[in-house]
Amino acid sequence: MSRLVVVSNRVTVPDKTGAAPAGGLAVALQAALEERGGIWMGWSGNSSGNEEPGPLEMQEHGAITYALTDLTDTDVEEYYHGFANRVLWPICHYRMDLAEYGRKEMAGYFRVNRFFAQKLAPLLKEDDIIWVHDYHLIPLAAELRQMGFKNKIGFFLHIPWPPADVLFTMPVHEQIMRGLSQYDLVGFQTDFDLDNFGGGLVREGIGERIDGGKKFSTFGRTFKGGAYSISIETEIFSKFAIKAEKNAMVRKARQSVEGKDLIIGVDRLDYSKGITQRIDAFEQFVATNPDHHNKVTYLQITPKSRSEVPEYEQMQRMVAEQAGRVNGAIGTVDWVPIRYINRSVPRPVLAGLYRLAKIGLVTPLRDGMNLVAKEYVAAQDPEDPGVLVLSRFAGAARELRGALLVNPYDIEGTAHAIARGLSMPLDERKQRWQMMMDHLLTYDINRWCDDFLKDLIED
Ligand code: UDP
Ligand code: G6P
Repeated sequence: MSRLVVVSNRVTVPDKTGAAPAGGLAVALQAALEERGGIWMGWSGNSSGNEEPGPLEMQEHGAITYALTDLTDTDVEEYYHGFANRVLWPICHYRMDLAEYGRKEMAGYFRVNRFFAQKLAPLLKEDDIIWVHDYHLIPLAAELRQMGFKNKIGFFLHIPWPPADVLFTMPVHEQIMRGLSQYDLVGFQTDFDLDNFGGGLVREGIGERIDGGKKFSTFGRTFKGGAYSISIETEIFSKFAIKAEKNAMVRKARQSVEGKDLIIGVDRLDYSKGITQRIDAFEQFVATNPDHHNKVTYLQITPKSRSEVPEYEQMQRMVAEQAGRVNGAIGTVDWVPIRYINRSVPRPVLAGLYRLAKIGLVTPLRDGMNLVAKEYVAAQDPEDPGVLVLSRFAGAARELRGALLVNPYDIEGTAHAIARGLSMPLDERKQRWQMMMDHLLTYDINRWCDDFLKDLIED
């Protein structure tokens, strides 16, 4: 079989501290590559200041060879903080009000993509399968094609793809769509995203879906498109959760919530995650359910993310203040309703905390998939499973039909779902959980990887 070469902006190299990977992409790719082996190229996370970055740093860990590059300060600013995280991220999450478009940042984005192609080129062999990930690197295939590479190149978008009217608010949307046309297969998380992409081409009059919807024809090329829902290592994660019961941190957490129902939320600190609306919903739940006073603890784990981007910095202040305000308003001398942790927690510990929680509260305003929702399900005790309260706007809602689906903008509705979840009879909890678990055992991370690669390789 051909060698697999994965390229993504974020790469998490395993280290001795067992530091938690930053977000779903790194977690999923790590799992997928461990199984298959191959090269994983991306940004080291470090800056070379004003100096040109040196040669790639190569590291071997098990079956994976990591190839890491630094970026200059200007590159990080324009490409990563600028165009990727202040234009593409908000637009793809339907937040055109937050997009800060600038030509300098856009130029930086295309420049860094060319730089990635130049760094990658010497590593490539003729029959390598190249798999590019996420919004940072959309133009990478075009750069490689210009350099003469004829390899199969696939692209997977981990975040949502917006409808035409949202996409078109981005001045360079056509160039971005042109970038995607250079791949052999473009994968999205759900059929909604896939339809949005096709709809954009048609609305702009620049392309169409052909072959029963399996292919797109645009910019003089025909390429495949599909929906591939990313997932987790379901069985392994479930075992993690059982083992985690013995973990010292998890045991401490269990003791400290003794006699109380635990509700858990786990998200990077990101405006797409609906954290402030969620805290409002929890406050509303407490206000309307006096019988739960002093009997419930809401644990919100929220590692810092992209703190140099102004919208994220503001959000950090907002959430901390809000959690403090709500605790001040509804807490008592012996009850702190919200526990707010603003640091990353290692996944093996998370697994144990999910298992302790009666409710997994996953309420993004928009999310490509949301692995936390899947991890929460996998971590449950089959004899006494908790309830997943899930936003209808997470990609995961297309699959996890046993969840209580909520509209995160409807604060009272989410509060009601929390109350319903906490009083749900065991039989119903088991039935809902089993449905979701059966699905996740079949549609795990390996299935996602196999399905994508099969479609990419096949002619
Ligand atoms: N995660 C973690 N430690 C934390 C918070 C999150 O390891 O403190 C992991 C979590 O287990 C999940 C991933 O980060 O695997 C988050 O993925 P998700 O798809 O939910 O959201 P993303 O951050 O990619 O938007
Ligand atoms: C999401 C994105 C990933 C990204 C992750 C963490 O999952 O889809 O591409 O790696 O968030 O964000 P960061 O900016 O720290 O890489």
